[in-house]
Amino acid sequence: MKPIVFALPGNEAFLTALGASIAFEPGVLETRRFPDGEAYVRIDTPVEGRPVAVLCTLAHPDPVFLTLWYAARTLRELGAARVGLIAPYLAYMRQDRSFQPGEAVSSRHFAALLSSAFDWLVTADPHLHRYHALAELYPIAAFAVESAPALAAWLRANVHHPIVIGPDAESEQWVVAVARKAGAPYLLLEKSRRGDRDVVIRLPDLDRARGRTPVLVDDIVSSGRTMVEAVRELVAAGMAPPVCVGVHALLDDEAHAALLRAGAARVVTTNTIAHPTNAIDVSSRFAASLAACFAATPAGAERRSRGTP
Ligand code: R5P
Repeated sequence: MKPIVFALPGNEAFLTALGASIAFEPGVLETRRFPDGEAYVRIDTPVEGRPVAVLCTLAHPDPVFLTLWYAARTLRELGAARVGLIAPYLAYMRQDRSFQPGEAVSSRHFAALLSSAFDWLVTADPHLHRYHALAELYPIAAFAVESAPALAAWLRANVHHPIVIGPDAESEQWVVAVARKAGAPYLLLEKSRRGDRDVVIRLPDLDRARGRTPVLVDDIVSSGRTMVEAVRELVAAGMAPPVCVGVHALLDDEAHAALLRAGAARVVTTNTIAHPTNAIDVSSRFAASLAACFAATPAGAERRSRGTP
């Protein structure tokens, strides 16, 4: 029996891409707003006894969250065997501690909410900084697929003589993986964040980078300030125009334009969030984890989180 995947609006392109690497039936659901703005959801594909998943990337999560929540709850009420969440981008991972007294640690509260609605979760490169694994947050089975092989393949095909550069210490995890797979050297910059849009970048010794194409790699490009400051510093130090590669494209048009103005050669992202800069398809990276989640039975389902199936 094929699993059913319901894509919330805006996720159709990723659903089609997923279809190339894993077999499922696309589910039909209706979502809309009542005149007062409240969310309406109707599931139009029978799901009783079937493994199902909802596909919804969680960029800008607040406006979509209740629709997602109602869909998950309704699928359960309608008798779906297990209800999973495919979230190519997983939100609320960056507030991973209380930086000021009284601040909500939203990563933890959001994880509790999602875990009460879904049996499992598959995402790509969640922002793991002070947490080391999704298991520290999510009591449900939670799989983190890595985009590094897809990024490295893109680099090999598109960039001559690259050096992979991480803008800050926490980028080391994905920078090292991409550089190794691309057969390129890497280096890390130093970042201090003084506010949401106030970032200072310091360069290390650039001797190893001379004569190479700098490729900045980060998991998230949001306000774009991290990448903008890194590009500015590299260009001011006499490096070639950097290629900016981001996994999750949270940036708006202004941030994109600011990156090009700062001197970036181009900005490239993966399709975890639909964006004009998308050039790297990571959907096939989800196949193995999804196959494992769909195959698990309610009785045999593992309730602990893991990195890979
Ligand atoms: C943070 O530590 C992340 O890895 C990114 O560097 C950060 O989220 C980028 O944000 P922004 O584009 O707003 O500087």
